Amino acid sequence: MAELIDDLLHYINASPTAFHASANARQRLQAAGFACLSEGERWSLKAGGKYVVERNGSALIAFRLPAQWSAAAGFRLLTAHTDSPGLKVKLPGSSDAANLLMVPVEVYGGAILSTWLDRPLGLAGRAVWATPSGLEVRLFNLDEPLAVIPNLALHLNRDVNQGAAYNPRQHLSACLGQASPADLRRRLDDAAGCPVETPARYDLFLYEQTPAQLSGLKRDLLSGPRLDNLTSCHAAIAALVGAPAAVAASVAFLADHEEVGSVSAQGANSAFLRDVLHRIVLALGGDAEDCLRTLAGSRLLSMDSAHAVHPSYLDKYDSAATPIIGGGVAIKTNVSQRYCTSALSAERFAAKCRQAGIPCQAFTNRSDMPCGSTIGPACTALLGMEGLDVGTPILAMHSARETAGVQDHLALAAAATAFLID
Ligand code: CO
Repeated sequence: MAELIDDLLHYINASPTAFHASANARQRLQAAGFACLSEGERWSLKAGGKYVVERNGSALIAFRLPAQWSAAAGFRLLTAHTDSPGLKVKLPGSSDAANLLMVPVEVYGGAILSTWLDRPLGLAGRAVWATPSGLEVRLFNLDEPLAVIPNLALHLNRDVNQGAAYNPRQHLSACLGQASPADLRRRLDDAAGCPVETPARYDLFLYEQTPAQLSGLKRDLLSGPRLDNLTSCHAAIAALVGAPAAVAASVAFLADHEEVGSVSAQGANSAFLRDVLHRIVLALGGDAEDCLRTLAGSRLLSMDSAHAVHPSYLDKYDSAATPIIGGGVAIKTNVSQRYCTSALSAERFAAKCRQAGIPCQAFTNRSDMPCGSTIGPACTALLGMEGLDVGTPILAMHSARETAGVQDHLALAAAATAFLID
């Protein structure tokens, strides 16, 4: 299974932003025979067909239809998210102070800010510019150590090891060396292939430039940026492409904007998934009643990273349900419905995993601490179907660099496959 891990590392390293995560997933699907659909066109779908549709270039839904479709068989849905916490650049920046080009940032999602300092950062995103025939949109990735966010020296901040506070406006501007805002603009326009006479508009992000890699004495750890949640995107696509033919239609939804609450046209709290599912049923000859019947017979597996127990902070976990690295897929439950898992969905999944020899374990938050969430509850609420939240346990969730277990990723991909054919 070294191949799957190799492929995961390539996927993460080629996907510094949600746009790249979606485009790279789409390319993998296309290479596996999935046909691209456009939301604005009439869909004619064939039984046994494989399709993919993107929205905003940062979210996608891919699906495989069974040879014989029936409303009773329903859908099996895998969900994950393409976005990760990070820093979005505000152009143009300024070199007025200290002869250094400094570009301010906005914090995207709940990043551990200190982890972004004093490390090489690349720049990636998408450029948009106007042409006589419409808007041109290009992704680009400047995979070089272009920027750094320097800390203040210890001697000027003696209390730094008691816990440092970073004000995003004052302390997190990225330094790009002795250059001007015009130099940066030219570099970006070049990278995007934008003509000199029509300046582009950018969605531009800094990213941790040291690639994802294996680590540990036995190379059994994954160390890299954006493991939350590109590991799940990768497992979902691998399962959708590689699973044997199933009776139910298989669907993977890679949503954007999970880290900022999922309320956007391409987020999980949108009509995107519901509308695509309706269109599938209608295109296969079903009616409105069939759409609802199909949803009622469907199940959803929401895949997102879980908290692995951290050996240096044991008091932060519920001792009854603390996933360990290497212990397999974590099934996440929360009574306040921050996760959509129920005893019903958990046991259905766990039984399937036992049968297939896939290790799984349990996660619940300490009862006196607020719980994180993911897109499972939003999706199952909008669609009215059974679901559960699972994920691979990771350390340092939302750090610029996170740590996971190699075996757990293999378990997640295997569990996603087993779920699709159940
Ligand atoms: Co996540």
